[in-house]
Amino acid sequence: MKPANPLHSVGLKLSLALVVLVAGALGLVYAIVIPSLERNLINARLQSLRSVAPELGHSAPSSYPFEQWQLYLERASSTADARVVVYETLVSGERPILSVIEDSHNLDSGDVQDDPLAIKAARAFEPVDGTVMRGGTRYAEVARPIAPVGRILLLSSSLDDALANVDTVQKRVLEAGALALVAALVVGYGLAYLFTRRIRRLEFAAEKIADGVFDAPIEDPSGDELGELARAFERMRLRLSQLERARREFVANASHELRTPLFALRGFIELLTDEELDEHTRREFLLTMAEQADRLQRLAEDLLDLTRLDAGRLRVEHRPVDLGELARDLWEEFRAVAHAGDHRLELIEADAPALGDDERIRRIGRALIENALRHTPPGTTVRVHAARAAFATSALVIEDDGPGIAEEHARHVFERFYRADGGHASGSGLGLAIAHELAEAMGGTLELESRSGRTAFTLRLLATSSEREQEQASVLA
Ligand SMILES: Nc1ncnc2c1ncn2[C@@H]1O[C@H](COP(=O)(O)OP(=O)(O)OP(=O)(O)O)[C@@H](O)[C@H]1O
Ligand SMILES: [Mg+2]
Repeated sequence: MKPANPLHSVGLKLSLALVVLVAGALGLVYAIVIPSLERNLINARLQSLRSVAPELGHSAPSSYPFEQWQLYLERASSTADARVVVYETLVSGERPILSVIEDSHNLDSGDVQDDPLAIKAARAFEPVDGTVMRGGTRYAEVARPIAPVGRILLLSSSLDDALANVDTVQKRVLEAGALALVAALVVGYGLAYLFTRRIRRLEFAAEKIADGVFDAPIEDPSGDELGELARAFERMRLRLSQLERARREFVANASHELRTPLFALRGFIELLTDEELDEHTRREFLLTMAEQADRLQRLAEDLLDLTRLDAGRLRVEHRPVDLGELARDLWEEFRAVAHAGDHRLELIEADAPALGDDERIRRIGRALIENALRHTPPGTTVRVHAARAAFATSALVIEDDGPGIAEEHARHVFERFYRADGGHASGSGLGLAIAHELAEAMGGTLELESRSGRTAFTLRLLATSSEREQEQASVLA
């Protein structure tokens, strides 16, 4: 396994993602929430000043005595919760000059002498509001012209308290943000560590499988996606180990099967070198050698076909084939062989149109008839017949009245290299395996029914489309 680059680890990526997320959320709070909070507080202050300003404007005394002003300023200042300043316009026009005539703060009024909002109200002859900075403090202010003409009332309220609240919120957000960032980093890394540990286990298991070691089960009982992945891996491991076992068995069996006739041939060659051998024995040896060579050739062909079937390279055709006609051909082909082996070979003729590959069906038929002739005692009757069957199929049946195949063997006869009688001389046990796979490749089935006195192999194929239509029509009718 390659040492993992920590910069490429899922853990780091996940924690960074969480950090970016938290930082983003914090940035949003900072950029949107805090300014809007500040705006709202200022607006609320301005709104409260605006709401009292008209009334305070109307109730301002138009002349002296001094006590009247004193009373007014006190009342107005407490009503508005603001500093109240009254100006008189000395010079009006584009740039009016104002002079403070009353100030609730009683101090030096120099700081508000040139208040920009008061000047603006004097110039525009209408109420204005906004914020101004004075001596490092921000104020919410409302200025409006009042009677008599030329007087301006200014309400000025410090925003220090309100902005201090915003400052506190800002600080808290920063502190909470810093905490959240640290937490995101820790939690992200922790979570990622848990996940990466599981991922690493899977990676380790996959590496083992890649190295051809299939014996370690992959376990992850959790129900999340990683658990699912682990279970898929486990299924893959089991399947691969099955395939690997089958492959080993196949190679072992195949080499064993190849070795037997080769060994026999080698023995006969040695015997033939004996010069004292009479002509008759020599001829017998040669005949046996020819048989072994045939067996080798057949075996090589079978193995090649199986390899092609495994690789999915065996192409089968789906053409209309008359199984009845094909059964007759097979019967004729095997009549002499059956006769020589003291078997009766019977043909039951019938029409049975099917869809399939003529050559492959013949191959299956030959394997079945050969078996029926070879694995049954002399005197056995073998019947070849084709027929239309249920569910829009047609069948080719090879039946014999031999001793039958016992239940425990019947379950395995379609397996590669399986021989029910165990006799190595009879064959290599590939005939039925190939026949079965060919039948499936044509979209059909090959089934066995066997009891003492009757063994029947049935190749079932889809009937031709016109036959199927006819059957459907008759079902509907
Ligand atoms: N009609 C039958 N009656 C009794 N036993 C049968 C019959 N057909 C097949 N068998 C049994 O099933 C086994 C498997 O048959 P299969 O055709 O696959 O192999 P084989 O005939 O031994 O060898 P191969 O066909 O590869 O030369 C046979 O060895 C035989 O024992
Ligand atoms: Mg056979």
